[in-house]
Amino acid sequence: MSMKNVNLSDLNLFANGAPWETFSDLRKNSPVHWSDEEAPNHGFWSVLGYHDIVRVLRDSETFTSERFTNLEEVDKEQEDARRSLLETDGTRHRALRRLLQGQFTPPAVAKYETFLRGITATTLDNAFAKGTFDFVSEVAADFPINVLVRLLDVPVEDTHKLIDWGNRMVGFDDPEHADVLISDPESEKYRLVPFRSPAALEVFEYGDHLARERKGKDGTDLVSVLINSEPTDGIPLSERDFHTNFLLLVVAGNETTRHTITHTMRNLIEHPEQLAILQENPDLIPWAVEEFLRYASPVYHFRRTATTDAVINGQNIKAGQKVVTWFASGNRDEAIFESPNKFDVTRNPNEHMTFGRGGPHMCLGNALARIELRVMFEDLISRVDKVELAGDIDYLRSNFVHGIKRMPVKVTLR
Ligand code: HEM
Repeated sequence: MSMKNVNLSDLNLFANGAPWETFSDLRKNSPVHWSDEEAPNHGFWSVLGYHDIVRVLRDSETFTSERFTNLEEVDKEQEDARRSLLETDGTRHRALRRLLQGQFTPPAVAKYETFLRGITATTLDNAFAKGTFDFVSEVAADFPINVLVRLLDVPVEDTHKLIDWGNRMVGFDDPEHADVLISDPESEKYRLVPFRSPAALEVFEYGDHLARERKGKDGTDLVSVLINSEPTDGIPLSERDFHTNFLLLVVAGNETTRHTITHTMRNLIEHPEQLAILQENPDLIPWAVEEFLRYASPVYHFRRTATTDAVINGQNIKAGQKVVTWFASGNRDEAIFESPNKFDVTRNPNEHMTFGRGGPHMCLGNALARIELRVMFEDLISRVDKVELAGDIDYLRSNFVHGIKRMPVKVTLR
Protein backbone atom coordinates (compact mmCIF):
# COMPACT_ATOMS: atom_id res chain seq x y z
CA MET A 1 0.00 0.00 0.00
CA SER A 2 1.39 3.44 -0.87
CA MET A 3 1.69 5.68 2.13
CA LYS A 4 3.37 8.49 0.25
CA ASN A 5 0.49 10.88 0.61
CA VAL A 6 0.06 10.43 4.34
CA ASN A 7 1.23 13.61 6.00
CA LEU A 8 1.41 13.63 9.78
CA SER A 9 1.66 17.42 9.88
CA ASP A 10 -1.93 17.60 8.59
CA LEU A 11 -3.95 18.51 11.68
CA ASN A 12 -7.17 17.36 9.99
CA LEU A 13 -5.93 13.81 10.58
CA PHE A 14 -6.13 14.53 14.31
CA ALA A 15 -9.40 16.47 14.38
CA ASN A 16 -11.37 13.54 15.81
CA GLY A 17 -8.72 12.09 18.10
CA ALA A 18 -5.83 9.79 17.33
CA PRO A 19 -5.50 8.38 13.78
CA TRP A 20 -4.88 4.83 15.06
CA GLU A 21 -5.45 3.18 11.68
CA THR A 22 -3.06 5.52 9.94
CA PHE A 23 -0.42 4.75 12.58
CA SER A 24 -1.00 1.04 12.08
CA ASP A 25 -0.76 1.30 8.25
CA LEU A 26 2.44 3.32 8.58
CA ARG A 27 4.01 0.81 10.97
CA LYS A 28 3.37 -1.90 8.41
CA ASN A 29 4.18 -0.07 5.20
CA SER A 30 6.33 2.94 6.01
CA PRO A 31 7.70 2.61 9.55
CA VAL A 32 10.15 5.49 9.06
CA HIS A 33 8.04 7.91 7.10
CA TRP A 34 8.69 11.30 5.53
CA SER A 35 6.15 14.17 5.85
CA ASP A 36 6.56 17.47 4.01
CA GLU A 37 5.74 20.67 5.85
CA GLU A 38 4.86 24.18 4.80
CA ALA A 39 7.75 26.68 4.76
CA PRO A 40 9.55 27.86 6.81
CA ASN A 41 9.63 24.28 8.17
CA HIS A 42 11.53 21.61 6.25
CA GLY A 43 9.55 18.40 6.81
CA PHE A 44 10.33 15.54 9.19
CA TRP A 45 10.89 11.82 9.53
CA SER A 46 8.35 9.96 11.66
CA VAL A 47 9.46 6.89 13.58
CA LEU A 48 6.39 4.70 14.20
CA GLY A 49 7.65 1.36 15.56
CA TYR A 50 8.36 0.73 19.25
CA HIS A 51 11.92 -0.63 18.89
CA ASP A 52 12.98 2.13 16.50
CA ILE A 53 11.58 4.78 18.86
CA VAL A 54 13.50 3.31 21.81
CA ARG A 55 16.67 3.35 19.75
CA VAL A 56 16.26 7.03 18.89
CA LEU A 57 15.42 8.03 22.48
CA ARG A 58 18.48 6.21 23.87
CA ASP A 59 20.98 7.68 21.43
CA SER A 60 20.99 11.38 22.27
CA GLU A 61 24.39 11.84 20.60
CA THR A 62 22.96 10.96 17.19
CA PHE A 63 19.44 12.23 17.90
CA THR A 64 19.69 15.37 19.94
CA SER A 65 17.05 17.33 21.87
CA GLU A 66 19.19 20.48 21.71
CA ARG A 67 17.62 21.59 18.42
CA PHE A 68 14.26 21.49 20.21
CA THR A 69 11.64 18.86 20.70
CA ASN A 70 8.45 20.05 18.97
CA LEU A 71 7.85 20.31 15.24
CA GLU A 72 8.49 24.05 15.24
CA GLU A 73 11.97 24.79 13.86
CA VAL A 74 13.83 27.39 15.86
CA ASP A 75 16.96 29.42 15.08
CA LYS A 76 19.97 29.87 17.35
CA GLU A 77 18.57 33.00 18.98
CA GLN A 78 15.30 31.25 19.80
CA GLU A 79 17.14 28.18 21.11
CA ASP A 80 19.21 30.32 23.44
CA ALA A 81 16.20 32.20 24.74
CA ARG A 82 13.85 29.24 25.14
CA ARG A 83 15.99 26.28 26.19
CA SER A 84 14.93 24.32 29.32
CA LEU A 85 16.24 20.97 30.54
CA LEU A 86 13.92 19.31 28.02
CA GLU A 87 16.02 20.80 25.20
CA THR A 88 19.41 20.22 26.85
CA ASP A 89 21.62 17.13 26.52
CA GLY A 90 24.78 15.82 28.19
CA THR A 91 26.34 17.08 31.42
CA ARG A 92 24.23 20.21 31.69
CA HIS A 93 21.05 18.18 31.25
CA ARG A 94 22.07 15.80 34.02
CA ALA A 95 22.95 18.72 36.32
CA LEU A 96 19.60 20.47 35.75
CA ARG A 97 17.64 17.24 36.09
CA ARG A 98 19.41 16.43 39.35
CA LEU A 99 18.24 19.74 40.81
CA LEU A 100 14.67 18.56 40.57
CA GLN A 101 14.66 14.79 40.59
CA GLY A 102 14.66 14.40 44.38
CA GLN A 103 11.20 16.01 44.42
CA PHE A 104 9.80 13.44 41.98
CA THR A 105 10.97 10.03 43.22
CA PRO A 106 8.26 7.50 44.19
CA PRO A 107 8.93 8.01 47.95
CA ALA A 108 8.91 11.82 47.53
CA VAL A 109 5.55 11.81 45.77
CA ALA A 110 4.08 9.18 48.11
CA LYS A 111 3.88 11.86 50.78
CA TYR A 112 1.19 13.65 48.75
CA GLU A 113 -1.20 10.70 48.88
CA THR A 114 -3.36 12.01 51.74
CA PHE A 115 -3.51 15.44 50.14
CA LEU A 116 -4.45 13.85 46.79
CA ARG A 117 -7.22 11.82 48.42
CA GLY A 118 -8.62 15.04 49.88
CA ILE A 119 -8.74 16.98 46.61
CA THR A 120 -10.04 13.95 44.71
CA ALA A 121 -12.91 13.53 47.16
CA THR A 122 -13.85 17.22 46.95
CA THR A 123 -13.59 17.29 43.15
CA LEU A 124 -15.76 14.19 42.78
CA ASP A 125 -18.29 15.32 45.43
CA ASN A 126 -18.85 18.59 43.53
CA ALA A 127 -19.07 16.95 40.11
CA PHE A 128 -21.23 13.99 41.14
CA ALA A 129 -23.72 16.31 42.88
CA LYS A 130 -24.57 17.60 39.38
CA GLY A 131 -25.37 14.16 37.94
CA THR A 132 -24.73 15.24 34.34
CA PHE A 133 -21.69 17.43 33.72
CA ASP A 134 -18.66 18.11 31.54
CA PHE A 135 -16.04 15.68 32.84
CA VAL A 136 -13.13 17.82 31.58
CA SER A 137 -14.00 21.08 33.32
CA GLU A 138 -15.53 19.51 36.45
CA VAL A 139 -13.06 16.70 37.15
CA ALA A 140 -9.99 16.42 34.95
CA ALA A 141 -8.91 20.01 34.28
CA ASP A 142 -8.40 21.31 37.79
CA PHE A 143 -7.02 18.19 39.39
CA PRO A 144 -3.39 18.26 38.15
CA ILE A 145 -3.22 22.03 38.66
CA ASN A 146 -4.31 21.65 42.26
CA VAL A 147 -1.40 19.29 42.73
CA LEU A 148 0.99 21.75 41.11
CA VAL A 149 -0.29 24.53 43.37
CA ARG A 150 0.72 22.33 46.28
CA LEU A 151 4.15 21.43 44.82
CA LEU A 152 4.90 25.09 44.11
CA ASP A 153 3.36 26.12 47.42
CA VAL A 154 1.44 29.03 45.88
CA PRO A 155 -1.95 30.43 47.00
CA VAL A 156 -4.96 28.32 46.02
CA GLU A 157 -6.52 31.51 44.55
CA ASP A 158 -3.91 31.34 41.76
CA THR A 159 -5.18 27.96 40.50
CA HIS A 160 -7.28 29.48 37.72
CA LYS A 161 -4.43 31.62 36.45
CA LEU A 162 -2.28 28.51 36.13
CA ILE A 163 -5.03 26.62 34.29
CA ASP A 164 -5.48 29.50 31.86
CA TRP A 165 -1.73 29.79 31.14
CA GLY A 166 -1.49 26.06 30.53
CA ASN A 167 -4.42 26.06 28.10
CA ARG A 168 -3.14 29.06 26.18
CA MET A 169 0.36 27.65 25.77
CA VAL A 170 -0.22 23.99 25.00
CA GLY A 171 -3.22 24.77 22.77
CA PHE A 172 -0.93 26.64 20.36
CA ASP A 173 -2.51 24.92 17.34
CA ASP A 174 -6.11 25.27 18.47
CA PRO A 175 -7.95 28.52 17.63
CA GLU A 176 -10.13 28.11 20.72
CA HIS A 177 -7.16 28.18 23.11
CA ALA A 178 -4.21 30.01 21.57
CA ASP A 179 -3.88 33.81 21.84
CA VAL A 180 -1.96 33.79 18.57
CA LEU A 181 -1.83 30.62 16.46
CA ILE A 182 1.73 29.45 15.94
CA SER A 183 1.04 29.40 12.18
CA ASP A 184 0.02 33.11 12.28
CA PRO A 185 2.72 35.64 11.23
CA GLU A 186 1.61 37.69 14.26
CA SER A 187 3.28 35.02 16.45
CA GLU A 188 6.67 36.34 15.21
CA LYS A 189 6.44 38.92 17.99
CA TYR A 190 6.69 36.12 20.52
CA ARG A 191 9.34 34.07 18.74
CA LEU A 192 11.70 34.19 21.70
CA VAL A 193 9.26 32.75 24.23
CA PRO A 194 8.15 29.12 24.64
CA PHE A 195 5.25 28.07 22.39
CA ARG A 196 5.47 31.61 20.92
CA SER A 197 2.77 32.38 23.46
CA PRO A 198 2.26 35.68 25.30
CA ALA A 199 1.04 33.55 28.22
CA ALA A 200 4.66 32.41 28.71
CA LEU A 201 5.64 35.99 29.61
CA GLU A 202 2.99 36.03 32.33
CA VAL A 203 4.34 32.73 33.68
CA PHE A 204 7.90 34.17 33.79
CA GLU A 205 6.69 37.20 35.71
CA TYR A 206 4.83 34.99 38.16
CA GLY A 207 7.94 32.82 38.64
CA ASP A 208 10.09 35.91 39.25
CA HIS A 209 7.74 37.06 41.96
CA LEU A 210 7.95 33.66 43.70
CA ALA A 211 11.75 33.54 43.31
CA ARG A 212 12.17 37.00 44.90
CA GLU A 213 10.11 35.86 47.90
CA ARG A 214 12.03 32.59 48.34
CA LYS A 215 15.66 33.29 47.38
CA GLY A 216 18.08 32.40 50.19
CA LYS A 217 15.38 30.87 52.40
CA ASP A 218 15.02 27.21 53.35
CA GLY A 219 11.72 26.36 51.60
CA THR A 220 11.31 22.85 50.22
CA ASP A 221 8.83 23.69 47.44
CA LEU A 222 9.87 23.34 43.78
CA VAL A 223 10.65 27.04 43.27
CA SER A 224 12.84 27.20 46.39
CA VAL A 225 14.71 24.05 45.33
CA LEU A 226 15.25 25.45 41.85
CA ILE A 227 16.63 28.82 42.93
CA ASN A 228 18.53 27.81 46.05
CA SER A 229 20.40 24.69 44.85
CA GLU A 230 23.66 24.65 42.95
CA PRO A 231 23.76 22.54 39.76
CA THR A 232 26.35 19.71 39.97
CA ASP A 233 28.25 21.04 36.93
CA GLY A 234 29.10 24.17 38.94
CA ILE A 235 27.34 26.51 36.47
CA PRO A 236 24.77 28.58 38.35
CA LEU A 237 21.18 28.81 37.15
CA SER A 238 20.80 31.82 34.87
CA GLU A 239 17.64 33.92 34.77
CA ARG A 240 16.75 32.13 31.52
CA ASP A 241 17.32 28.73 33.13
CA PHE A 242 14.98 29.66 35.94
CA HIS A 243 12.28 31.03 33.63
CA THR A 244 12.24 28.16 31.16
CA ASN A 245 12.46 25.39 33.74
CA PHE A 246 9.81 26.99 35.92
CA LEU A 247 7.58 27.19 32.86
CA LEU A 248 8.33 23.57 32.00
CA LEU A 249 7.15 22.50 35.46
CA VAL A 250 3.97 24.57 35.10
CA VAL A 251 3.14 23.05 31.71
CA ALA A 252 4.52 19.51 31.71
CA GLY A 253 2.23 17.84 34.20
CA ASN A 254 -1.04 19.57 33.56
CA GLU A 255 -2.41 18.92 30.14
CA THR A 256 -0.84 15.48 30.04
CA THR A 257 -2.38 14.25 33.29
CA ARG A 258 -5.68 16.00 32.58
CA HIS A 259 -6.08 14.27 29.24
CA THR A 260 -5.06 10.89 30.64
CA ILE A 261 -7.81 11.19 33.25
CA THR A 262 -10.40 12.14 30.60
CA HIS A 263 -9.36 9.44 28.13
CA THR A 264 -9.45 6.86 30.92
CA MET A 265 -12.97 7.86 31.91
CA ARG A 266 -13.98 7.55 28.30
CA ASN A 267 -12.28 4.17 27.96
CA LEU A 268 -14.04 2.87 31.06
CA ILE A 269 -17.37 4.13 29.66
CA GLU A 270 -16.75 2.40 26.35
CA HIS A 271 -15.56 -0.82 28.03
CA PRO A 272 -17.97 -1.36 30.94
CA GLU A 273 -16.67 -4.90 31.40
CA GLN A 274 -13.25 -3.43 32.25
CA LEU A 275 -14.84 -1.02 34.74
CA ALA A 276 -16.61 -4.03 36.29
CA ILE A 277 -13.29 -5.89 36.66
CA LEU A 278 -11.87 -2.97 38.64
CA GLN A 279 -15.03 -2.51 40.69
CA GLU A 280 -14.80 -6.15 41.74
CA ASN A 281 -10.99 -6.11 42.17
CA PRO A 282 -9.90 -2.62 43.27
CA ASP A 283 -6.48 -4.07 44.15
CA LEU A 284 -5.82 -4.22 40.41
CA ILE A 285 -6.06 -0.44 39.99
CA PRO A 286 -2.36 0.35 40.63
CA TRP A 287 -1.49 -2.06 37.83
CA ALA A 288 -4.39 -0.94 35.60
CA VAL A 289 -2.91 2.59 35.68
CA GLU A 290 -0.28 1.35 33.21
CA GLU A 291 -3.02 0.38 30.76
CA PHE A 292 -4.75 3.73 31.38
CA LEU A 293 -1.50 5.40 30.33
CA ARG A 294 -0.83 3.16 27.33
CA TYR A 295 -4.32 3.43 25.93
CA ALA A 296 -4.63 7.19 26.48
CA SER A 297 -1.22 8.14 24.98
CA PRO A 298 -1.82 11.82 25.84
CA VAL A 299 1.41 12.96 24.16
CA TYR A 300 1.51 11.94 20.51
CA HIS A 301 5.18 12.64 19.93
CA PHE A 302 8.39 14.39 20.84
CA ARG A 303 11.09 15.33 18.37
CA ARG A 304 14.84 14.90 17.98
CA THR A 305 17.26 16.15 15.30
CA ALA A 306 19.91 14.00 13.62
CA THR A 307 23.39 15.33 14.42
CA THR A 308 24.97 13.20 11.69
CA ASP A 309 23.81 11.03 8.75
CA ALA A 310 22.14 7.95 10.24
CA VAL A 311 20.07 4.93 9.27
CA ILE A 312 16.88 3.93 11.09
CA ASN A 313 15.25 0.66 10.06
CA GLY A 314 16.91 0.82 6.63
CA GLN A 315 15.92 4.44 6.00
CA ASN A 316 18.66 7.02 5.42
CA ILE A 317 18.36 10.13 7.57
CA LYS A 318 20.50 13.18 6.81
CA ALA A 319 22.29 15.26 9.42
CA GLY A 320 20.07 18.17 10.47
CA GLN A 321 16.76 16.45 9.66
CA LYS A 322 13.98 16.28 12.23
CA VAL A 323 13.14 12.84 13.62
CA VAL A 324 9.78 12.54 15.37
CA THR A 325 9.14 9.66 17.79
CA TRP A 326 5.42 8.82 17.83
CA PHE A 327 4.86 7.35 21.31
CA ALA A 328 1.15 6.93 20.55
CA SER A 329 2.02 4.64 17.64
CA GLY A 330 4.64 2.70 19.64
CA ASN A 331 1.99 2.10 22.30
CA ARG A 332 -0.13 0.22 19.75
CA ASP A 333 2.73 -1.70 18.13
CA GLU A 334 1.54 -5.25 17.54
CA ALA A 335 5.15 -6.51 17.74
CA ILE A 336 5.14 -5.62 21.46
CA PHE A 337 1.54 -5.65 22.66
CA GLU A 338 -0.84 -8.53 22.08
CA SER A 339 -4.14 -7.23 20.64
CA PRO A 340 -2.81 -3.67 21.00
CA ASN A 341 -6.18 -2.06 20.25
CA LYS A 342 -7.83 -3.85 23.14
CA PHE A 343 -8.24 -1.89 26.39
CA ASP A 344 -7.29 -4.55 28.91
CA VAL A 345 -6.84 -3.42 32.52
CA THR A 346 -5.17 -6.74 33.38
CA ARG A 347 -2.56 -6.47 30.61
CA ASN A 348 0.78 -7.83 31.81
CA PRO A 349 3.52 -7.06 30.87
CA ASN A 350 2.79 -3.49 29.88
CA GLU A 351 6.00 -1.72 28.92
CA HIS A 352 4.27 1.29 27.36
CA MET A 353 6.12 4.39 26.15
CA THR A 354 3.71 7.08 27.33
CA PHE A 355 6.51 8.71 29.38
CA GLY A 356 9.14 7.93 26.75
CA ARG A 357 11.06 4.68 27.30
CA GLY A 358 14.63 4.71 28.50
CA GLY A 359 16.84 7.54 27.43
CA PRO A 360 17.85 10.61 29.41
CA HIS A 361 14.63 12.61 28.96
CA MET A 362 12.18 9.97 30.24
CA CYS A 363 9.42 11.89 32.04
CA LEU A 364 10.61 13.33 35.34
CA GLY A 365 7.06 13.48 36.70
CA ASN A 366 6.07 9.88 35.94
CA ALA A 367 5.73 8.75 39.57
CA LEU A 368 3.63 11.81 40.34
CA ALA A 369 1.36 11.25 37.34
CA ARG A 370 0.96 7.59 38.32
CA ILE A 371 -0.09 8.35 41.89
CA GLU A 372 -2.52 11.05 40.70
CA LEU A 373 -4.17 8.57 38.33
CA ARG A 374 -4.29 5.82 40.91
CA VAL A 375 -5.87 7.98 43.62
CA MET A 376 -8.38 9.55 41.21
CA PHE A 377 -9.59 6.22 39.84
CA GLU A 378 -9.54 4.34 43.15
CA ASP A 379 -12.01 6.89 44.47
CA LEU A 380 -14.06 7.29 41.28
CA ILE A 381 -14.40 3.56 40.60
CA SER A 382 -15.48 2.85 44.18
CA ARG A 383 -18.33 5.36 43.94
CA VAL A 384 -19.89 4.96 40.50
CA ASP A 385 -22.40 2.38 39.41
CA LYS A 386 -22.56 3.49 35.81
CA VAL A 387 -21.13 6.30 33.70
CA GLU A 388 -22.49 7.20 30.25
CA LEU A 389 -21.59 9.72 27.60
CA ALA A 390 -24.16 12.52 27.58
CA GLY A 391 -23.11 14.34 24.39
CA ASP A 392 -20.38 14.67 21.81
CA ILE A 393 -16.67 14.63 22.62
CA ASP A 394 -14.61 17.64 21.44
CA TYR A 395 -10.95 17.05 20.65
CA LEU A 396 -8.02 19.42 20.84
CA ARG A 397 -6.80 20.27 17.36
CA SER A 398 -3.23 19.12 17.73
CA ASN A 399 -0.80 16.46 16.56
CA PHE A 400 1.29 17.00 19.71
CA VAL A 401 -1.18 16.58 22.57
CA HIS A 402 -3.87 13.94 22.25
CA GLY A 403 -6.41 15.99 24.14
CA ILE A 404 -10.13 16.15 24.86
CA LYS A 405 -11.62 19.59 25.44
CA ARG A 406 -15.16 18.59 26.42
CA MET A 407 -16.79 15.32 27.38
CA PRO A 408 -20.34 15.46 28.79
CA VAL A 409 -21.11 12.50 31.05
CA LYS A 410 -23.97 11.22 33.17
CA VAL A 411 -23.02 9.45 36.38
CA THR A 412 -25.18 7.08 38.41
CA LEU A 413 -23.75 6.43 41.85
CA ARG A 414 -23.73 3.12 43.69
C1 HEM B 1 0.38 11.45 32.18
C2 HEM B 1 1.15 12.48 32.42
C3 HEM B 1 2.45 12.76 31.72
C4 HEM B 1 2.91 12.36 30.50
C5 HEM B 1 2.20 11.49 29.49
C6 HEM B 1 4.24 12.91 30.33
C7 HEM B 1 5.04 12.66 29.22
C8 HEM B 1 6.36 13.06 29.12
C9 HEM B 1 7.27 12.64 28.07
C10 HEM B 1 6.90 11.73 26.91
C11 HEM B 1 8.48 13.22 28.30
C12 HEM B 1 9.75 13.02 27.49
C13 HEM B 1 10.08 14.17 26.58
C14 HEM B 1 11.18 13.86 25.58
O1 HEM B 1 11.52 12.69 25.39
O2 HEM B 1 11.69 14.79 24.94
C15 HEM B 1 8.33 14.01 29.51
C16 HEM B 1 9.34 14.77 30.07
C17 HEM B 1 9.15 15.54 31.21
N1 HEM B 1 8.05 15.54 32.05
FE1 HEM B 1 6.35 14.51 31.79
N2 HEM B 1 4.55 13.65 31.43
C18 HEM B 1 3.50 13.58 32.32
C19 HEM B 1 3.43 14.14 33.57
C20 HEM B 1 4.39 14.94 34.11
C21 HEM B 1 4.30 15.55 35.41
C22 HEM B 1 3.16 15.38 36.43
C23 HEM B 1 5.41 16.32 35.56
C24 HEM B 1 5.79 17.15 36.75
C25 HEM B 1 5.59 18.39 36.90
C26 HEM B 1 6.23 16.15 34.36
C27 HEM B 1 7.45 16.74 34.12
C28 HEM B 1 8.28 16.44 33.07
C29 HEM B 1 9.59 17.04 32.89
C30 HEM B 1 10.24 18.09 33.80
C31 HEM B 1 10.13 16.48 31.72
C32 HEM B 1 11.51 16.76 31.08
C33 HEM B 1 12.49 15.70 31.52
C34 HEM B 1 13.85 15.84 30.83
O3 HEM B 1 13.96 16.45 29.77
O4 HEM B 1 14.82 15.31 31.40
N3 HEM B 1 5.57 15.31 33.52
N4 HEM B 1 7.04 13.88 29.99
